[in-house]
Amino acid sequence: MPKIEVISDNLGEVKDQCLAIAFFEDRLSLNKEISIFDKSINNIISNSIKSRGFKAEKDESKLCYTNNKNLSCIALLGLGKENDFSLSKLMDAIGKLSKKLRASDIKSFSLYLGSFENKSFEHSIYLEKIVKGILLALYQFTKYKTKDLEKIKSIDKISLIVDKKLLNASKKVVEESVVYSEAVNKTRDLVNTPPNIATPKYVADYALKLAKENKLKCTILDEKQIEKLGMGCLMAVAKGSANKPRIAVLEYNGNGKEKPIVLVGKGVTFDTGGYNLKPAAYLATMKDDKAGACGVISILEACAKLSLNVNVVGIAALAENMVSDKSYRPDDVLKSYSGITVEITNTDAEGRLVLADALSYSLEYKPKAVIDIATLTGASIISLGYFASPVLGNNQELLEKIKAASEKSLEKIWQFPLWEEYEDLIKSDIADIKHTHDGIDAGVIVGAIFLKHFVKDIPWAHLDIGATVWAKEEKGYIVKGATGFSVLLLLNLLRDWK
Ligand code: BES
Ligand code: ZN
Ligand code: ZN
Repeated sequence: MPKIEVISDNLGEVKDQCLAIAFFEDRLSLNKEISIFDKSINNIISNSIKSRGFKAEKDESKLCYTNNKNLSCIALLGLGKENDFSLSKLMDAIGKLSKKLRASDIKSFSLYLGSFENKSFEHSIYLEKIVKGILLALYQFTKYKTKDLEKIKSIDKISLIVDKKLLNASKKVVEESVVYSEAVNKTRDLVNTPPNIATPKYVADYALKLAKENKLKCTILDEKQIEKLGMGCLMAVAKGSANKPRIAVLEYNGNGKEKPIVLVGKGVTFDTGGYNLKPAAYLATMKDDKAGACGVISILEACAKLSLNVNVVGIAALAENMVSDKSYRPDDVLKSYSGITVEITNTDAEGRLVLADALSYSLEYKPKAVIDIATLTGASIISLGYFASPVLGNNQELLEKIKAASEKSLEKIWQFPLWEEYEDLIKSDIADIKHTHDGIDAGVIVGAIFLKHFVKDIPWAHLDIGATVWAKEEKGYIVKGATGFSVLLLLNLLRDWK
């Protein structure tokens, strides 16, 4: 990630490859400071506005090159009308600009924060979004490239120019935002790592290494321990693969003896569907089926880096869903860790099985709340499209906390109901319950209603990130591939927990 520094230079003192200044469409005038600066650079800015068509529309940007040795490029960024301004628009605009500057061979740039001043949001709020917007947008996954490495462009340094009075407060905001962004980008790295490399063992070893570096307690259960504990559901999913399952538990202690909040992540390192094999078009990108677990691991690391005042346990439930003579089949009946027996109806609904045992296991930590994060259903895409995730749970207070955290993180979630009527859909003739129903109706809810059986009466919420986990296209600060969705949200939740 590029380095971000906070400075309080006057515009006239800036020495950098590029200086970016933002404008609102409906007050496209130069304030006193910009005006003085503009004169010193031959009125490049005012000319761009007057005669060269810069209107400051949303997402519009213009690069103007100068003869100035200290500053070879001025970037003008449009933020649209001030009344329509939102923090999402800000993150997208700054993200898009950062990508454009990188593509234009800029290695370092300065950003004049005063130009973002607006009537809706305080300095610390828009500063936070700017830092995250830049760092998330500039993410690239290049680890497996061996050719033309010199053609990979990157920005190494960004200087944020703030008012002297705001210097110290700004540094704090930037520090925290950098840790948040790093957690998202590390999640993206792990999710993007191909499935022949990122096996359950690889992900568990990664968690262990990170635990040592950050002084987190770490317990890894291997396949023998998982079997011995009686986790028949997780084991059945994992059986078909030569890459044996793991459960990685990370514990962060930031609040004495208080009961922890447990995060449980689905970590299916590749989901073929098993004997209910996925069609070709749906197999591609199924390495992203471990995203819940990857997010949980990065969140625990960030908890330590931020020294949050909460106790958090992260459980990554890791297995691979493959086809072999050892694989589980439809019609099997499995005995879960909780003792509940489950009739298998579709081997592609493996996530809820892995989670069933991990959720029951999470109760051993006597949690005050359990939240699972899982790429659980394709139905989540049908219900909400690609930019929002369903959330469900058994405790409205917990759900409201999660919604408040999502408002702040700008990751959209929408609560679905868990009405008792849905229970009928998973009644089994021969076991306690079955894990899917026959139709395609209410797919998200059926997944959640199944999970509900494994958390007893502990406050629990389920985030189905099946739709939001992966980006097919570049958009604003979103980069193609793994998105890291829900990491910012959950960090907000833990930071603000009361
Ligand atoms: N990992 C998938 C869900 C998924 C699909 C995530 C597409 C991201 C994109 C999950 O294991 C799955 O296959 N779910 C099935 C459940 C069904 C068989 C009840 C699904 O959604 O089709
Ligand atoms: Zn599946
Ligand atoms: Zn899956």
